[in-house]
Amino acid sequence: MNWSEIEPLGIGMASDVSAVMPNFREFINNVDSPINYLNYGAHYTQLERVKHYIDDLIQSDFNTVFHPINFNLATTEKEPQYVLDDIHKMLEYTKPKWMGQDIGLWTHNDQYLGAYLVPSILDEKGVDEVSKKISYLNEEFDIPFLIENPPVYFSLEKMHMLEFFHKVVKNVNCGLVLDVGHLIGYQQATGRSIKDMPIELYPFENVVEIHLAGLQFSQVGEDLNIIDQHAAPIHISCWEFLEEHIDKMVNLKGITLEQEYCETKVAETSLKIAIEKFNYMFEKNKIEG
Ligand SMILES: [Fe+2]
Repeated sequence: MNWSEIEPLGIGMASDVSAVMPNFREFINNVDSPINYLNYGAHYTQLERVKHYIDDLIQSDFNTVFHPINFNLATTEKEPQYVLDDIHKMLEYTKPKWMGQDIGLWTHNDQYLGAYLVPSILDEKGVDEVSKKISYLNEEFDIPFLIENPPVYFSLEKMHMLEFFHKVVKNVNCGLVLDVGHLIGYQQATGRSIKDMPIELYPFENVVEIHLAGLQFSQVGEDLNIIDQHAAPIHISCWEFLEEHIDKMVNLKGITLEQEYCETKVAETSLKIAIEKFNYMFEKNKIEG
C-alpha cells in the first residue's frame, strides 16, 4: 500500500512499551479530548510485552502506528531474517496503519545503540543508502514504512537535513515523519539559528506524521544543548513551527503527541491545544483525499 492512500487518523499519542508509563490510557475513551490512535515504540523482540500492555486495544481495533527501533536505515544491508520474521509477527498482531523510524544506525557490531543511535551521514552517499534501504523495506512490508529525521547531537554533513530528505524523496517518493523537536535540536547542534534552514526544499507534501514533544535546554557556560523531552509540555517553538507550515502538509494523516512519563495534566493540555488548533486539517484532508 502506498503512503498517500492511508486514511487520515487525527491526533494520537506515543508510548514506548520498553518502559511503559501509559499517559495515553487517560485519553482512549475520553469524551472531552479523545486520542485517535496510539503510536507504540517497540523492539523486534518485544511482541509479548506489547501483548501484555495493549492487547485490549488491539482486540477492540483501536488504531495504532508502529515505531520500530532496530532498523539500520543508514546502511543498505538487509536485517537478518529473524529480525524481519519477528517484525512481521508484530505487524500481524497489531495491524498498524503504518510504521516509521529515524534514519541512522541503531545497532553496530552487535551493540544496540538505542537512544544513542548514530544519524545518517548527510551526503550524496547517505542519500543513496537511505533511498535504497527504504525502497527495499517498502517492498518487504505491506504497510508503508516512513522515514523520520533523527535526533542529532553531532552531524557529519555536506548538506542540511532538510535537503537530505528532499533528495531521498526525489529518488523514492516515500512518506515522511517530521519530528519538529529533533529538527530544532539539529539546528542548535549544527550551529544554526532556528529559522536558518532551507525550508523551501523540504517536501511537506510527503509528510504523513508529525511528532511534537517538549524540549530540554541545558546551558553549560557559553554552550547550549537542546534535546527533545517527552516528559515536558510541548514547547512553544514546536507549536509555532507547526502552525506556520501545516497547511503545506496536504497528505498529513496524524499528529503524534510525544507526551509520556509526564503528569496527566501536561498531556491533557497538549492534547486540547492540538485538537483545537489542528483537527481541521484531518477533516480537510479526508474530504480532499
Ligand atoms: Fe519522534
